Amino acid sequence: MTYKADFRIWRGDTDGGELRDFKVEVNEGEVVLDIIHRLQATQAPDLAVRWNCKAGKCGSCSAEINGRPRLLCMTRMSTFAPDEVVTVTPMRTFPVIRDLVTDVSFNYAKARQVPSFTPPEGLKPGEYRMQQVDVERSQEFRKCIECFLCQNTCHVIRDFEDNKAAFSGPRFLMRIAELDMHPLDVADRQKAAQEEHGLGLCNITKCCTDVCPEHIHITDNALIPMKERVADRKYDPLVWLGNKIRRR
Ligand code: SF4
Ligand code: F3S
Ligand code: FES
Repeated sequence: MTYKADFRIWRGDTDGGELRDFKVEVNEGEVVLDIIHRLQATQAPDLAVRWNCKAGKCGSCSAEINGRPRLLCMTRMSTFAPDEVVTVTPMRTFPVIRDLVTDVSFNYAKARQVPSFTPPEGLKPGEYRMQQVDVERSQEFRKCIECFLCQNTCHVIRDFEDNKAAFSGPRFLMRIAELDMHPLDVADRQKAAQEEHGLGLCNITKCCTDVCPEHIHITDNALIPMKERVADRKYDPLVWLGNKIRRR
């Protein structure tokens, strides 16, 4: 079925902008990114949008569609009724560069603040040994495509710009949790999570989990277990030490 859809797209730059209306052709099987591309080809050649793979794997095309954070390339037009207005706006938590493109460098800055995997001193590559169960536990978190939709959605920074300095967001708290679960990692992730990355600011609303296109259980499998381990340690440092030793 081919029809004409009503689109409202945010157009603007760092100085401000507004929603503009367009009527665009939609064909069977298309996704929102197809429509944005058709708009560029036929009506708005200077419309800025970031994308790369068109397969839900590069994490570039994050935006908000009818107010919900989504990947443009993974949102089928069949999600909407033919007479529904489809509104596309840039991610709200990050500064706009132009149109649908935002400056996500906040996330790269936070990524750099998480020290990489730290094996015990003297253990050389090739000598690492760990249980399959520990390998499998982190596989879920490794599915992350760094679309930053979870970062965009979390109210701790979406509604409170001032929290950005103190809070790394669900994607990077999940990374810290992943490293903390790693039986060969010796860095003190729990203290850093609490004191440098703002784990305590997360009040487990699970909005991050709701929007994750990879369906990672960010809250249940990373953030809550991390909070529990931090609490254990707070009340009894020997528990933390014991856990670390037992896991080797
Ligand atoms: Fe995107 Fe999910 Fe990774 Fe967050 S955890 S950046 S929502 S893939
Ligand atoms: Fe934010 Fe997710 Fe926690 S939305 S408050 S990081 S559960
Ligand atoms: Fe790569 Fe959408 S274009 S995830």
